[in-house]
Amino acid sequence: MEKILYTLDGASFTVGDTILEYSYLLAAILFVIGLKYQSHPETARKGNIWAGAGMLLAMLTTLFLHKNDQGQAIGLINMLIIIGVIVAGSVIGAVIARRVKMTAMPQLVSFYNATGGAASALVAIMEFYNPENKAVLVTLLGIIIGTLTFSGSMIAYGKLDGKVGDIFSPVMKYVNIGMMVILAGLTVMFMVLGPDLPYRNELGILLIALALLYGVLFVMPIGGADMPVVISLLNSFSGIAAALAGFIYHNQAMILGGILVGAAGTILTVLMCRAMNRSLLNVLVGAFGGGGAGPEGKEAGTIKEISLSDAAVLLSYTQKVVIIPGYGLAAAQAQHICSDLDKLLTGKGVEVKYAIHPVAGRMPGHMNVLLAEADVPYDKLIEMDDINPEMPNTDVAIVIGANDVVNPAAYDDPSSPIYGMPIINAHHAKNIIVMKRGMGKGYAAIENYLFYDDKTRMLFGNAKETLQKLVSEIKTL
Ligand code: TAP
Repeated sequence: MEKILYTLDGASFTVGDTILEYSYLLAAILFVIGLKYQSHPETARKGNIWAGAGMLLAMLTTLFLHKNDQGQAIGLINMLIIIGVIVAGSVIGAVIARRVKMTAMPQLVSFYNATGGAASALVAIMEFYNPENKAVLVTLLGIIIGTLTFSGSMIAYGKLDGKVGDIFSPVMKYVNIGMMVILAGLTVMFMVLGPDLPYRNELGILLIALALLYGVLFVMPIGGADMPVVISLLNSFSGIAAALAGFIYHNQAMILGGILVGAAGTILTVLMCRAMNRSLLNVLVGAFGGGGAGPEGKEAGTIKEISLSDAAVLLSYTQKVVIIPGYGLAAAQAQHICSDLDKLLTGKGVEVKYAIHPVAGRMPGHMNVLLAEADVPYDKLIEMDDINPEMPNTDVAIVIGANDVVNPAAYDDPSSPIYGMPIINAHHAKNIIVMKRGMGKGYAAIENYLFYDDKTRMLFGNAKETLQKLVSEIKTL
């Protein structure tokens, strides 16, 4: 029997217990430092290391110092199973993270959200069937939030990967509200009737099935350009589910880690909602617009192309250029050559800035991370609200692989699924050059009349190759 160091509120603490509690406090501090560093692309990598160190510390001390209510440490067999699973998970995670392409990162994030939700749901499900479990509400919430995070994130993964389409019908809104009411009703029933509830075990399975279905139905109708909101919301749900699992096990590190993810995800959700001009309530009942076809009926006009040499001359003998990057820049991995173009023009005395839309690309901060990789100075990356007033004084706006984030339908077409979303005002610039491969649509799958604007010239081709040719052309001038 280990020596009791002190007692507090009737509970006794050994040296091991004390080290364990302090290690959780230290882990929480490391998480917070990590989060602070993660808030800037320059220090984000360091942030991951700090937060990862906190997680490693919490896992190791739990493994070796945790005791159950009877004061028993983790047995050898269980310990071997846990270590085996950690090693297997770490290897799989490292291989996937190394192999995944930058453009598939959002899918990976969704997949990780799904696994996080599933892990927390499994903890809660085990406790639901544990007769000694007292934390009924926490357990039920853990099941519901963890399960719907799992199924919702898997659907989000499929949508981002283009494997799952949108199902949009106005009825979905009412179905989703109905599902929420049923889940709340079942939770109240479990709480009020407790273990005496007839068919409790079967009803537990029904609760899990309904939460799974709710996750699917909640994400399915979300189409158009609105996925960023739902991804950050599911991210915050995965944190909340982990915190609930931490409450069940009285594990401070899990509670704190979960709350931090939940809070950061919630802040991101609010920011994304603002960027998309949507209300959170709309997100919760899945009442987003689907990926509508856009104003196809309207006369589109004609497309005008620009030759490489004309583009080179236009850019070289101008005063102010704003580069508007989008998903296509990431897909083509054209960030380095884009930075070369910037340096070349800057060398010729042209003022070059980048206009960053909050949801350009496929994940929050996508363009910042991408351009940071190419060593573009941060002070050249200008947020949407700050660059828009400068657009009328911009001689040339170069749209590279961006589409939805420069679509004026957001301002002037109430029938458009992106109506109301703030955009980068490329159409206010004096000249617009659009680089894309063809007339392919963006994520919202709608027509973009910017491409037919009188001031717009298209420079077709893969962004990387086009930029390479353009840079060579400018060098010959
Ligand atoms: P998009 O609207 O998706 O448009 C990207 C454009 O890039 C396409 O029209 C495509 O046209 C072009 N393209 C693709 N590959 C290319 C290549 N190799 N070279 C040159 N062009 C290429 O991109 P965006 O303007 O960045 O908008 C982002 C959209 O994604 C928004 O609707 C946003 O809501 C949504 N979304 C964002 C996030 C986050 S958090 N950022 C998450 C999920 C969804 P071509 O096929 O003709 O080349």
